[in-house]
Amino acid sequence: MTCSDYPPRHVAIIMDGNGRWAEQRGLPRPQGHIAGADNLDRVISVFIQKGIAYLTLYVFSTENWDRPRPEVEGIIGLIALIIDREVEFMQRSGIRLLILGNLGRVPSALQEKIRSAIELTRNNKAITLCIAFDYGSRAEIIAAAQSMAQQGRQDIDEHSFSQHLATAGIPDPDLIIRTGGEMRLSNFLLWQSAYSELYFTPVLWPDFGEEHIDQALDDYRQRQRRFGSV
Ligand code: IPE
Ligand code: IPE
Ligand code: MG
Repeated sequence: MTCSDYPPRHVAIIMDGNGRWAEQRGLPRPQGHIAGADNLDRVISVFIQKGIAYLTLYVFSTENWDRPRPEVEGIIGLIALIIDREVEFMQRSGIRLLILGNLGRVPSALQEKIRSAIELTRNNKAITLCIAFDYGSRAEIIAAAQSMAQQGRQDIDEHSFSQHLATAGIPDPDLIIRTGGEMRLSNFLLWQSAYSELYFTPVLWPDFGEEHIDQALDDYRQRQRRFGSV
C-alpha cells in the first residue's frame, strides 16, 4: 500500500528537545518547557487543517519522574497553567481530549481540571487529541495483562488484548514523529507501533512548525507499507 493513496489517520509525536532548546539560548531548562507548551496550539491547528483524525502527543513519560524534583514540579505546574488556556482553544477548535497514562500521581485539583476538560470536549469532532501523560508503554502492557488475568479471561488474543490498553478504540499510529534528533521510542506505544512509519527530525520541539510537519507528511507519502505482505 502506497501512503500517497492513504493519508495518515493517526499521527503520534514524541515532543523532545525542550531542554536543549533552552540550553542553546543560555536559558534554564524550564524556559524550554514553556516554549514547548507555547508551540502546542500551532502544531495542533496544523494537524486539524490537514484533516488528521487522531493526534497523540507524548508529554511526560513514567521515566520522567526520575528527573530532578524542581524540573518535575515545574512541568506539572506548567500543565496546570496551560490546561485552562487550552480548554478554551479546544472548544473553539473542536478538539476532543483524551489522556493516555495515569493521572493518579498529580495533585487532585489538576486531576479534576483534566477530567472536566475531557468531559467538556467529549463530543467535539474536528480531531481527537490524546495526551500521553505519565505514560509508559511497558506499564500499559503489564496493566492490560493484569486486568485480563484478574478477569480470568481465556480469550486472550491481539484484538481482546488491544481493548485493554490505554488506546482501546483508537487506531494504531500510522506515523510516529520524534523531534530533537534522538532515534528511539523511549517506551512510547510499543505495542501500537508494530507497523507505524517512523520519522526522526533534529528540529527541537519548540521550533517544530508547519514546514516541518509538511516535510514529515511528504516523507510518509513516499513510504510503501507492506504489513509483512508483498
Ligand atoms: C521533552 O524535552 C519534554 C519532556 C520529556 C518532559 P526534554 O526535556 O527531554 O528536552 P531535552 O531532550 O533534554 O532537550
Ligand atoms: C521522551 O523524551 C519522553 C517525552 C518526550 C515525553 P525523553 O527526553 O524523556 O527521552 P530519553 O530520555 O531521551 O530517551
Ligand atoms: Mg529529552
